[in-house]
Amino acid sequence: MSHKKQLLIVANTPSDNTAALAQAALQGAQHPDIDSVEARLLTPFDTDANDVMSADGIVLGTTENFGYMSGALKDFFDRVYYPVLEHKQGMPYLLYVRAGLDGTGTISAVERIVTGLRWKALREPLLCHGAYQDEFTAQTEELGLLMAASLDAGIA
Ligand SMILES: Cc1cc2nc3c(=O)[nH]c(=O)nc-3n(C[C@H](O)[C@H](O)[C@H](O)COP(=O)(O)O)c2cc1C
Repeated sequence: MSHKKQLLIVANTPSDNTAALAQAALQGAQHPDIDSVEARLLTPFDTDANDVMSADGIVLGTTENFGYMSGALKDFFDRVYYPVLEHKQGMPYLLYVRAGLDGTGTISAVERIVTGLRWKALREPLLCHGAYQDEFTAQTEELGLLMAASLDAGIA
């Protein structure tokens, strides 16, 4: 059994750009200077309540579809919400959203759910919207690193 803190990234990746964002978050979370944290990346459909139960911090990544989070992330919340509700209050989380144009509907929808779960945001959501820019990858990597460094330092 690993004694490392567990960092879980749950991200849907329907395109090359979103796959790159998820990999960047993982790369940040696996920064070589941080050895007390173990990070893994799962799609929402591959994540169950046990994965959340064993996580010390979670990074959520989603596209915006039809003004809302992806169906994949919604399915994840539908399945894990009640099983983890009483057990993971206070868990640190971070959110990034990839949206073609907007993203605000997704942010408010996710925030409503995580408020119910009483998870704790380490910083405001990262919104990568508009035409894809290379800086999105660096920003997502930074998000993964922030979660890992916070867990490593024991401040999350
Ligand atoms: C079915 C569908 C619905 C979408 N709805 C929205 C939307 O409501 N708002 C928005 O900003 N982008 C929307 N998009 C754009 C996606 O968010 C975007 O294509 C996705 O994040 C992938 O980004 P990429 O094109 O950089 O790979 C939609 C895309 C699809 C396929």
